[in-house]
Amino acid sequence: MITGKPFLSENNINTRIRELAEEITNDYNGKSLVVVGLLKGAFMFFSDLVRHIQVPITVDFIIASSYVMSSTSGKVKVHADIREQVRGRHVLLVEDIVDTGLTLNHIRDNLLSRAPESLKICTLLDKKERRVVNVPLDYVGFTVPNKFLVGYGLDYDNQFRNLPYISVFKKSG
Ligand code: IMP
Repeated sequence: MITGKPFLSENNINTRIRELAEEITNDYNGKSLVVVGLLKGAFMFFSDLVRHIQVPITVDFIIASSYVMSSTSGKVKVHADIREQVRGRHVLLVEDIVDTGLTLNHIRDNLLSRAPESLKICTLLDKKERRVVNVPLDYVGFTVPNKFLVGYGLDYDNQFRNLPYISVFKKSG
């Protein structure tokens, strides 16, 4: 069940996304960018973020999973890969939440092996205290405590992704 009032309201999220997009726009001034979304979780954040980025972009997606219900398995499976060639291009990887860092680390290594000109990472949420592998994060929306969050793309058992805000989820009983 979802407890109390939203942990992050629509307003909080939107304000922070505009700030992140402005920072990205400034950093890539005069360049173009391949923005890669990690699905499914990042779908909502991705679409809100890119509409405020004001440099030329192409978009692509990776579908990966590392999670069974709410515990990390430590294994990363890539179900669908990007189709864009990233060699020699600036790439921005967009993630919903970094927890242990295992998923992102795996995807990052995979993309780096294709020799992009640069690779940066943008995550909406950083659950820092759970980190197992150190992944460099270039843009972070919010640092969050070790609680299970749902909404705005984040799921529990594939539910709650459509909530426009982020809430803490507790198993009932
Ligand atoms: P990591 O590999 O442990 O960093 O896990 C990252 C992935 O786990 C994210 O892309 C999410 O899909 C999922 N995840 C981690 N924490 C949460 C959470 O609080 N709510 C929902 N999904 C989460």
